[in-house]
Amino acid sequence: MTTPQQKTVESDLKMQSIGLNAWFGQKQALKDINVDIKANTVTAIIGPSGCGKSTFIRCLNRMHELIPNAKMTGQILLDGENIFDKTVDPVMVRRRVGMVFQKPNPFPTMTIYDNVAAGLRLTGAKKGKNLDEVVKRSLEQATLWDEVKDDLKKPGTSISGGQQQRLCIARAIALQPEVILMDEPCSALDPIATAKIERLVVELKRDYTVVIVTHNMQQASRVSDYTAFMYLGSLIEFGSTKDIFESPKNQLTEKYITGEFG
Ligand SMILES: Nc1ncnc2c1ncn2[C@@H]1O[C@H](COP(=O)(O)OP(=O)(O)OP(=O)(O)O)[C@@H](O)[C@H]1O
Ligand SMILES: [Mg+2]
Repeated sequence: MTTPQQKTVESDLKMQSIGLNAWFGQKQALKDINVDIKANTVTAIIGPSGCGKSTFIRCLNRMHELIPNAKMTGQILLDGENIFDKTVDPVMVRRRVGMVFQKPNPFPTMTIYDNVAAGLRLTGAKKGKNLDEVVKRSLEQATLWDEVKDDLKKPGTSISGGQQQRLCIARAIALQPEVILMDEPCSALDPIATAKIERLVVELKRDYTVVIVTHNMQQASRVSDYTAFMYLGSLIEFGSTKDIFESPKNQLTEKYITGEFG
């Protein structure tokens, strides 16, 4: 029996990585990663190029296993359930744990409207008022609606890079995920477009749990509640963003955040 208080603590955790290892062929890319991801927070993943940030978040929605010769061991819990269990449908995991990539990648042959509706259509949604409403709501949540509401029939690729990235966020939101993974979502954007995405990330945590990979220390400290610092496939330090940036316990973390290497 769990007391109500214990239950609150448990449900506070949206995802957990427990003893996670991952390989590409013989090469081990992740070594014993243990991270708790709290619901309705933003968790930043930082660390130098090649340390395993993308691999880690691709494990969180079972995308890693789509790569030939990729392997992993350990557990990832989503609401307490291991997403690698035989009974779990990876398609459902990817629906619950959505992803936004580094380079804005709207479907090139589709309109703005269809880009947002595409995933829903795959799951059987029909044309009509309901779909219109989901598209509108998703674009509103992605803070893009006002800029594109008169251009819904234009190609998704006809808008600016920052708008395209918000379109991709709207596309992810339309499927009503619970967790949104973002892999360096601003690295192809200018500072103004970046600032818009950063504001959006902070807003998104009201409704979603966000995990964001970033190379930008300022960005991590501006948008995240928790930060994980990775190095050579290992998790070196994990804690509140304030602690990681103001009083890191590990010397490597300190060196990285002060720009001594990276
Ligand atoms: N498809 C792949 N096949 C083989 N090795 C890979 C593959 N993808 C990544 N790796 C290797 O796994 C390790 C971790 O890569 P990963 O892409 O997760 O790093 P990262 O921290 O996201 O780096 P970056 O900041 O450059 O995006 C690296 O050594 C990389 O070379
Ligand atoms: Mg990467």
